[in-house]
Order: sequence, then structure tokens, then C-alpha cells
Amino acid sequence: MDKLRENWGSKLGFILAAAGSAVGLGNIWRFPYLAGENGGAAFIFVYILCVLVIGIPVLVAEILIGRTTQKNPVGTFKQLGKTKFWIAIGGMGVAAGFIILSFYSVVAGWTLGYIYEAISGNLMQYNLPDVTNSHFTALIQNPVWIISMHGIFMLLTMSVVFFGVQKGIELGSKIMMPLLFVLLIALMIRGLTLEGASKGLEYLFYPDWSKINMKVILNALGQAFFSLSLGMGAMLTYGSYMSKKDNIPSAAIWVAFLDSAIAIIAGVCIFTVVFATGQNPDAGPSLIFRTLPVVFTKITGGYIFSIIFFIALSLAALTSTVSLLEVVSAYFVDEKGWSRKNAVLLFGLMIFIIGIPSALSFSVLSGFTLFDKSFFDLTEFLSSNLMLPIGGFFISIFVGWIWDFEKVIENIKPGAEKIFMKYSWIFIGWKLILKYLAPVLIFIVLLSSIGII
Ligand code: TRP
Repeated sequence: MDKLRENWGSKLGFILAAAGSAVGLGNIWRFPYLAGENGGAAFIFVYILCVLVIGIPVLVAEILIGRTTQKNPVGTFKQLGKTKFWIAIGGMGVAAGFIILSFYSVVAGWTLGYIYEAISGNLMQYNLPDVTNSHFTALIQNPVWIISMHGIFMLLTMSVVFFGVQKGIELGSKIMMPLLFVLLIALMIRGLTLEGASKGLEYLFYPDWSKINMKVILNALGQAFFSLSLGMGAMLTYGSYMSKKDNIPSAAIWVAFLDSAIAIIAGVCIFTVVFATGQNPDAGPSLIFRTLPVVFTKITGGYIFSIIFFIALSLAALTSTVSLLEVVSAYFVDEKGWSRKNAVLLFGLMIFIIGIPSALSFSVLSGFTLFDKSFFDLTEFLSSNLMLPIGGFFISIFVGWIWDFEKVIENIKPGAEKIFMKYSWIFIGWKLILKYLAPVLIFIVLLSSIGII
């Protein structure tokens, strides 16, 4: 079947969609609590280093192979890698998209549910940490609440992907990303104008170098990977809708910049209010669901800002879930000749169903554990800690070692001619990173996440 494949309407369309994929729960939920647990500023510094040295080079590699073939991860490796092994690497990416989306949508559902909690005024009643805690626990232990929020979030995701690359994903990102940005800036201004905000800023920006150790570095690299949506072909798939006129290195730098900027802004929003109201910064994964609601009851305008916060969070999550579903759909559209609409409906439904055991991991299925992990933890671990680093490792190996460097250059050049003329050394550095540094570091992250080191 030779249907015409869609492209982004413009380079900006690509940047917003890819930044939409990158900016998600990872930035607003995970980054702040990781920074909180790993010593604040020192972690942020290492994180930025990881984005610059490993994140951007791997991001460029992913976008490049996608744009070269104009295909999904499996089609891309069929065309460029040819052997069964490489096709399986593409297949693992599609599978990872499936699995990540199944649990990501559960957490995204909580953020959606919290918009209601904020609007209804429920959140404002809880000004004691113990009470917010039990409220949150009661919600995630309620099977009806958690499954319906997960379901609604999947429906929202499907309704964007359903309309295709330009009319769905690109248009959606062009509306949601600027809105997200405005909401976060409003929150940041509220945080910064609180008395005592400077303690939060100090925590975020005044590094205590003694906090840096191996664990901090590995956490930072893992987070850089997850946050930039690397390792499973999401950026590859978005790259496949890019035109040869567009400049890949510059687009990648933009995406990485927006992603890190939004993570840091989210950190400022959260830690200024947390410190100003005297709460603990190191509450871990529940920081935004347990600590923040208490904080909102203590600041002027807390009611409005709590609504804004959870809307921003849901928007960020939605542009990410869209990219995950797009990978799965693109595979069935390109490789199996399905119509986009059928692929979205069927696989959206299947991912919803597979997410149900994750959703129930906090209640009915909490006793059901494998390797000491609940279904939710297991799917998270399998995808984020194993499949993504393995995927990222092989993408670096592929572009660094397997694909002819002449071909690599020939394909990255279109759109980037100017950089080539002036700074061709950058590409040599990039190749060296993909050959040596990225695979070695990613491998170490992998070993540490399976507990070997
Ligand atoms: N990057 C997103 C976040 O920070 C999550 C995400 C979306 C993702 N698509 C991905 C992570 C693909 C890895 C791979 O929340």
C-alpha cells in the first residue's frame, strides 16, 4: 500500500510535538522529587551535564534514523539494519511504548482526577499532611476512581492521535504547549513572590558538591533519558514525519532546551512553595500529590493555583501519552497496512486493559507481587529501567558503529548544511560520543538498575 505519509507542517510543529513528548510527568512529577532526594542543586548540575553530553547526541541519532527512512521503529531497522536482530530492537521499542503507556496513563489519570479535587474545593479542606495523605491513599485505593481516570486519560490520548500527525498531534501540541508554559510561569511567579521563597531557590540552585556520588550520576542519566523520551523510538517516529529541509541538530537542541527549562521551572514552582510553607522537600514520588495540596491551603490564591497546577500537569502528560500511542499506531499503519483510526481504537483499548492491573496495584492487587514488585512497579521497572536503556544502548551502537558514517553524514546534512560548513568538528565529536561514551555510560546505568553494581 502506497498511501502518502504525512509530514509535520513546519519545523516549529516538530519542535513543539517533540518537546510535548519530552515534557511530561517526568518533568513536573519525577524531576522535582528526584532533585529533592538527590541533594537539589548538585543533582540539577549533573542532570544538565547528562542532557548535554549524552542526551542530545542520542536524541539527534534517533531523530536522524527516523527521518532517513520516514518509517516507524520496526520499518526503520528493517531498512537500515536489515538483520533480524535489529528488527527486534525496533520491535522492542514498539512494545516499550505499549507498556510505558499502560502505567503512565494511570498516573496521568490521577492528575486529571486532581483537577476535579481542586475545582470542587476538596483539596482546600486538607491543611494537615496526615489528612492529605489519607485522602490521596483513599483515592488511589478506590478501584472505580482509578480505573475511570485511567480510562478517561486513554480516551483523551486516543482522540488526539486519531486525527493524525498534522490535525491531531501537531495542532494539539501547538495549543497545549504554549498553554502549559503560561500556566507554569503563573505558578512560578506565585512561588517566587512568597515570603521565604528564597530558601527554595537556595535548595535548587546552591550546590553542595559533597552530595554527588555514583548513585546521583546514574539517577541523573536515567532521568535525562526518560525525560527526553529516548530509547524506544518515540523521537525516531516523530523524526520520521520531519522533512529533509529541517535542521536536525538545531531542532534537537531546542527540544532538549525546552525540556530542561520546563523541568527547572517546575522545580522552582514546587520548591518555592514547599519551603515557604515549611514542608519537607524529600517526600519522594508523592511530593506533588501529598505535600503540594497542603501547601496550596497555606498560600493566598491557593485554590486557583491548585487548579492551574493540576491542569498544567495533565496537559504535559497528555502530549507525552500521545507520543507513546503514536509509536504503536505508526507501526501498525506502516507495517501492517492498518488504517490509523482502527489502529488507534484497537490499541488504545488494549493499552487501557493492560493498564488495569497497574491501576489495581494500589488496592485489590496490592498483595500480588512478582520479584517483590507489584504489577505497576514491575511494568515501570521493565520498561523504564530495562527496555529504555537497552534501546538507547543499541541506537547509539547502531549509529556509531553499524551504519556507515558516510551514510550518516549524507543523511544528517540536509537542513544542516550551514553547521557543516562552519563546525564540521561537531559531527566528529558526536560520532565519538555515540561510539564510546554513550554506550558505556548507558550500559553502566543498565547494570545499576538491575542491581549488579
Ligand atoms: N518524556 C516523558 C516524560 O518526561 C515520558 C515519555 C513520553 C517517554 N514518551 C516517552 C519516555 C518515550 C520514554 C520514551 O514524562
